[in-house]
Amino acid sequence: MDCYFVALIICLVLATVSCCDIVKLTFPSGFRFGAATASYQIEGAWNVSVDTFYHFPDKGENVWDYWTHNYPGYIADGTNGDIACDSYHKYEEDVQLLKSAGLDFYRFSISWSRVLPTGFTNVISEDGLQYYKNLTAELVANGIEPIVTIYHWDHPQVIEDMGGWTNELMVDWFVDYARVLFEALGDTVKKWITINEPRSFCLLGYEDTQKAPGKVISGIGAYLCMHNVLKAHGKTYRMYDEEFRDVQQGVIGMAFSLITILSANSSDTVSADVGFQFEVGWNTHPIYIGDYPEIMKTRVAMISEAQGYPRSRLPELTDDWIAIINGSSDFFGANLYTSVLASPDPDEELGIYNSDSGIILEANSSWSRAASSWLYVYPPGFGYTLRQIRDYYDNPPVWITENGYSDKGELEDYDRISYFYDYLRELLIALKRDGCDIRGYAIWSLMDNFEWQDGIADKFGIYSVDFDDPARTRSSKLSTAWWARVTSTRKLQAVPTNSNARIKLPWE
Ligand SMILES: *[C@@H]1O[C@H](CO)[C@@H](O)[C@H](O)[C@H]1NC(C)=O
Ligand SMILES: *[C@@H]1O[C@H](CO)[C@@H](O)[C@H](O)[C@H]1NC(C)=O
Ligand SMILES: *[C@@H]1O[C@H](CO)[C@@H](O)[C@H](O)[C@H]1NC(C)=O
Ligand SMILES: *[C@@H]1O[C@H](CO)[C@@H](O)[C@H](O)[C@H]1NC(C)=O
Ligand SMILES: *[C@@H]1O[C@H](CO)[C@@H](O)[C@H](O)[C@H]1NC(C)=O
Repeated sequence: MDCYFVALIICLVLATVSCCDIVKLTFPSGFRFGAATASYQIEGAWNVSVDTFYHFPDKGENVWDYWTHNYPGYIADGTNGDIACDSYHKYEEDVQLLKSAGLDFYRFSISWSRVLPTGFTNVISEDGLQYYKNLTAELVANGIEPIVTIYHWDHPQVIEDMGGWTNELMVDWFVDYARVLFEALGDTVKKWITINEPRSFCLLGYEDTQKAPGKVISGIGAYLCMHNVLKAHGKTYRMYDEEFRDVQQGVIGMAFSLITILSANSSDTVSADVGFQFEVGWNTHPIYIGDYPEIMKTRVAMISEAQGYPRSRLPELTDDWIAIINGSSDFFGANLYTSVLASPDPDEELGIYNSDSGIILEANSSWSRAASSWLYVYPPGFGYTLRQIRDYYDNPPVWITENGYSDKGELEDYDRISYFYDYLRELLIALKRDGCDIRGYAIWSLMDNFEWQDGIADKFGIYSVDFDDPARTRSSKLSTAWWARVTSTRKLQAVPTNSNARIKLPWE
């Protein structure tokens, strides 16, 4: 009996020691919190100024301007980003929003056609650049680090007229554009994200009408798009190495579109991994391992042949390109929100190929869903995928570049706070128990904004924006106050049970 009790006490002590660090739910010193946005979703001012020398609009039309103006039927509520949150005029207030929530960094993106109205570097808009200089200066003056996304889906329409991401010339046009930004902002900006979520815009913009440019090039468009994205990213990384890194000492990565893929049948040890390689490895393997996943190369070649194509629809990375792309990343940017279950497509036994992966992905019907149709809540999936990145890519430094929850705009956003709590708890376990090298976390999003094909009805902000008000007044939500407590204590906070906690903004 005595022995039993001693053993029990020893077990309890051991269990407490190994878990209490996590149970306390504190973040390591040096862990950074921020919020993210994207230019087209918040800036507005789509046609803001006229160049006094050339006498043409000093902000070029981009693919999202063109798409929403010409095909509003593809946007759930027919809205567009002409005004959006009007952040072009309200950036000083936006910096105060970040400061009130106690955030350490702001991840925002730059509008290519605002900086280069013709799409090319023959004309550089001084106003356009000045806007981003003003914004970064305002951030720094308030102790907030700028983290810049060079491209978040809004390339100039003139470039799309020439094929956009399906044209390999895009690679050099992108590098030219990035160079202008390094030159103009690289003294203050030390963290760069080249391209946001290629998987999303390659699949939904070049094989579907969910995102601009809405070209349906089935089976080919997305692979070609990703191929050129990888080249543009790799070449930009090498250009920074050669021309800027010594002096500017910054870091460069990409924000990948991740999705947690779990097995639908616990005795199926294959499908979830195949799904991961097709959905995630497609983008991350070339950068971290040097080439597309073997299974992708094999299956796409086999199915292309069965379909009568003379060569694989998945382009090949040559040795020269592999040398440029392999290892072109200083950190792993993870945009991660949702999970799916993978199972084999039963049609394949009949020789019918419905997809290149041969895998069916569906949500577990028992998971709850956010307002967005694609966003299912399954917190353990978050930790699972963080460990998967650790194992696949030799534990790279990870920044969560996006994570968040959509609702219909409730100011008492308890569901959003619960989501943050559960996902951040998984993050802490991955970091402290499992040794994942996670450096920071960006909330998607700082404020409600134009949510692409979903218009302005689905809202992700920790601040609300009144889109009926020409002044686009911002208000805090319950989650703002919750975040302010997390950032001031550096500790996860319980989900509140009443709404007294709302914080006041400086101008209220
Ligand atoms: C800019 O676009 C708005 C619509 O968003 C339009 O009313 C206005 O006339 C345009 N301004 C210029 C200078 O083209
Ligand atoms: C940048 O800031 C200056 C000084 O506050 C202001 O006059 C100018 O309008 C701003 N420019 C832009 C494009 O925001
Ligand atoms: C779906 O979710 C339920 C409830 O969490 C769980 O019991 C079940 O195992 C899940 N199914 C799969 C295939 O993961
Ligand atoms: C799960 O997989 C096993 C092994 O392949 C198979 O025997 C079983 O029928 C599957 N279960 C379901 C529910 O599909
Ligand atoms: C990519 O780089 C790593 C590390 O240098 C190397 O081990 C690997 O072989 C390279 N991959 C390819 C396909 O060359």
